[in-house]
Amino acid sequence: MNVLVIGASRGIGLELVRQYLAAGERVIATARDDAALEHLRELGAVPLKLDVANPASISGLSWQLDGEKLDLAFYVAGVLTHESANSPPTQQAFDHVMHTNVLGAMQALPQVAPWVEEAGGVFIFMSSSMSQIEGVPNSSAWLYRVSKAALNMAVAAAQHDYPRATLVTMDPGWVQTDMGGRGAPLSVQDSVRGIRTTVASVTPADKGRLLVHDGARARHW
Ligand SMILES: NC(=O)c1ccc[n+]([C@@H]2O[C@H](COP(=O)([O-])OP(=O)(O)OC[C@H]3O[C@@H](n4cnc5c(N)ncnc54)[C@H](OP(=O)(O)O)[C@@H]3O)[C@@H](O)[C@H]2O)c1
Repeated sequence: MNVLVIGASRGIGLELVRQYLAAGERVIATARDDAALEHLRELGAVPLKLDVANPASISGLSWQLDGEKLDLAFYVAGVLTHESANSPPTQQAFDHVMHTNVLGAMQALPQVAPWVEEAGGVFIFMSSSMSQIEGVPNSSAWLYRVSKAALNMAVAAAQHDYPRATLVTMDPGWVQTDMGGRGAPLSVQDSVRGIRTTVASVTPADKGRLLVHDGARARHW
């Protein structure tokens, strides 16, 4: 299989690269700094420089992938900020989170999805249970919640334009990464093992859905 991982310098993205390489797959992996690209090359991945918050950087992605049939593509890049409805985000924080988590995904999608369609593959976008509106427990990480809810809509709507691919969002669980922190219940290895198993179980009925790392199918709302 050909696998693309966007946002592979560390955390869940890097572990996806490790596990798919260990399974014998060919992996194209993106990062935005040279040290991370060198590390990805040493692991055996094909490194690609990409800053998802820079539209000029994303605009070259399609031709860089020219000719690749992508069985799996992952949009993993994401950022988290910690505000609540009592202390709203600054414009700078809003732009930072929304550009990375939403605009970057919306700009990468049409660059990558045609190559996923070539293989009849699956395009997975890392979302979160924090995107879900029903039963939301509080406004912690308010902006992040909004960004992931927007991402779910962007992916579900775009599915209609790429019928030969399957586009889904994925909740990886609460994971021990720089973002999730050491107190998270799930190791990055276990989260990614679950993601891989869940992705392998995807059927056309899952198009546009929010999937969970343990195989469950969640509600978008
Ligand atoms: N950890 C959790 O508990 C959890 C739970 C739910 C959802 N998620 C989602 O899962 C995804 C991965 O999370 P993680 O825990 O692995 O986070 P992480 O350890 O903080 O890693 C974030 C990744 O995103 C990349 N990134 C950020 N901004 C970027 C940009 N402008 N261009 C390219 N890459 C960029 C980072 O690259 P640099 O090294 O260059 O910064 C890094 O590779 C995120 O979308 C996150 O929202 C995580």
